[in-house]
Amino acid sequence: MRALIEKLEREHTLSAVEFTALIEGRNETAAELLFEKAVAQRQKYYGKDVYLRGLIEFTNYCKNDCYYCGIRRSNRHAQRYRLTKEDILDCCRMGYALGYRTFVLQGGEDPWYTPERIEDLVRSIKKEYSDCAVTLSVGEHSHAVYQSWFNAGADRYLLRHETADPNHYSSLHPEAMSLENRLRCLWDLKEIGYQVGCGFMVGSPGQNAEHLAKDLLFIRTLEPHMVGIGPFIPQKDTPFGKETAGTLELTLYLLAIIRLMLPEVLLPATTALGTIHPMGREKGILAGANVCMPNLSPTSVRKKYALYDNKICTGDEAAECVQCLCRRIERIGYKTAAGRGDHIRIERK
Ligand code: SAM
Ligand code: FES
Repeated sequence: MRALIEKLEREHTLSAVEFTALIEGRNETAAELLFEKAVAQRQKYYGKDVYLRGLIEFTNYCKNDCYYCGIRRSNRHAQRYRLTKEDILDCCRMGYALGYRTFVLQGGEDPWYTPERIEDLVRSIKKEYSDCAVTLSVGEHSHAVYQSWFNAGADRYLLRHETADPNHYSSLHPEAMSLENRLRCLWDLKEIGYQVGCGFMVGSPGQNAEHLAKDLLFIRTLEPHMVGIGPFIPQKDTPFGKETAGTLELTLYLLAIIRLMLPEVLLPATTALGTIHPMGREKGILAGANVCMPNLSPTSVRKKYALYDNKICTGDEAAECVQCLCRRIERIGYKTAAGRGDHIRIERK
């Protein structure tokens, strides 16, 4: 294992067979070595800085029906909500006062939020907060639509590829969705000039080490600016409601691998990681992550954006969330960074 880890550190990639061996053969000693090397890489580029993004979950309406997702179209138990433009601008106002310089607008693929309405939203936020980055995470759209949002000022886009294996992809999604289109979107976004984030759930039903090796090799090929990974967590009203959740241990291991593959990547310690373990996000940072995305959505709608069961931070006000997170980050010897927190290669431009 040591030889594989040293090769990964040196060459920033491995073959599919080697990645599979690194995952299947993992043990505590290998994990500790990986974390040590991942933290050293992160330290080299970003020091002890952790970037905060204000997450605004602005709609839980969705036309898609992903089998794992609590806000999928067929979930009749989901209580639907949609924030207005004014609600969203209020969130930004509050977030700006709390020190956020990135707003992440995330939602289901809500047909009411047409490309024009999202474009208007981006323009309005950028007009009022020109020193802030806007990240969109609203699913699959055409090149032209992505271009119009980019022209309106959107800086970044998060679209997890979910799995790079077409058969595994089909087992997680209905027939109307395809890996091919998901990947087309990611390449379009990159070509347009967004800072792009892909990613996947760890421990999604049917996932094995070969699938994960493909995910890692896809990440190597795309070279995204951000990678979002977190454990799959079942949501009781979905087809996967009785499946087993992904583990903290494997998620941390993969975070460290991704840091060694892309030393400059912006890598969040996700809310899902904080949900499966009370110290999950701190452990994520200690495995190589350097981003946290506290919730800025109004408390009244927090519980309704229920992608999975027992999601944390659904009761706290935005101010409490940021304070709690800052304290957690400081307690492990890191600090929250001011500013937009762009990818290093973008800042250099
Ligand atoms: N609609 C957009 C999209 O498809 O990218 C953004 C919203 S979607 C809910 C954001 C991410 O949540 C998905 O990419 C998926 O990886 C994650 N997610 C959904 N259900 C989950 C679950 N049960 N456990 C963990 N993560 C989940
Ligand atoms: Fe659309 Fe999850 S199924 S956001």
